[in-house]
Amino acid sequence: MSTADPDLATPLPPAPPGFFMERVLTVHHWTDRLFSFTCTRDTHFRFGAGQFAMIGLVVEGKPLVRAYSMVSPPWDEHLEFLSIKVQHGPLTSRLQHIRPGDGVLIGRKATGTLVNDNLLPGGVLWLFATGTGLAPFMSLVREPETYDRFDRIILVHTVRQQAELAYRDLLSAGLAEHELLGEMAREKLTYLPSVTREPFATNERITAMIESGSLTARFGLPPLSPERDRAMLCGSEAMNSDVRALLEARGFVEGSNNDPGSYVVEKAFVTK
Ligand code: A2P
Repeated sequence: MSTADPDLATPLPPAPPGFFMERVLTVHHWTDRLFSFTCTRDTHFRFGAGQFAMIGLVVEGKPLVRAYSMVSPPWDEHLEFLSIKVQHGPLTSRLQHIRPGDGVLIGRKATGTLVNDNLLPGGVLWLFATGTGLAPFMSLVREPETYDRFDRIILVHTVRQQAELAYRDLLSAGLAEHELLGEMAREKLTYLPSVTREPFATNERITAMIESGSLTARFGLPPLSPERDRAMLCGSEAMNSDVRALLEARGFVEGSNNDPGSYVVEKAFVTK
C-alpha cells in the first residue's frame, strides 16, 4: 500500500509564516484507522528525538495543524509521521487522503518533553506507548544517544488490534539488522507488543502489567524503582494519568528541561 515516485515537478504553493511547505514522498495505510507518511525535510528544520511539531494542511487559505511527533530520527534526511484517521476530524479526515507529490505544512519549531535530557541517565529506560503514542519512541530508538545514556531500553506498545502494531517488523527484526544501529539495538533494545482486544501472545494493558509486577518479572528484573528505572509515557489522557499515578506511587518524579527526573509524559495528541 506504499506509494512511491511522487510528482516532484509541480511547484508547491509558498508556506505560510512559521511553516515549511514540504512534499509528501510516501503514504502507508496500516489499517482503516491508522496511516503514516514520509515527506521531504528542510535542512533548517532541527529537532531532537522524541519531539513534536505542528503538522497539517492549508485549508481555505489558512493553516490547519495539529501536534505530531516525528517518527523519524533526527539524522534522517526525510521526515515521517504516524496518524489516526477520524472520519469527521477537521484535519485527519483530509490528511488521510494525501498522496505522494502533495504539499504538507511542517511547523518550523519542534518541542516536547519526551527527550533524553529530561531524564536522569543510566538504568532501564521504559518507553510506554498506546496507539499512535508510539511515534516519538520510533525516533528515540533510532537515536544513538538513547543507547549511550541508558543500559537497556524496553519499548511496550499496546493497541486494540494486531494490525495496529505499526512498525512491528522494524521493531522486532529490522532495527537489529540496521547497519549503524544494529549492534546497539541487539544489545540493549527489547520490544514488547501487547494486543488487548484480539488473541495475541500478550494481552494486558500497561497499567495491569505494572500493577501485577508481571512487566518487570517477565524480564527477570526487580520491581520498578526510580533508583534504577526511567520511564517515558505517550498515550491517551487516561493512559497517561493512570500510568503516571502508578509511577508516582513508586516514588518516580517527573522530569523537565531544567530538572531531569525519573519519568516524563506527553499526550499522543491528535484525536480529531
Ligand atoms: P483496552 O483495549 O483494554 O481499552 P485506545 O485505542 O482506546 O487509545 O487504546 C489503545 C490501547 O491502550 C488499547 O490496548 C487500550 O486497552 C489501552 N488503554 C486504553 N486506556 C488505557 C488506560 N487508561 N491505561 C492503560 N491502557 C489503556
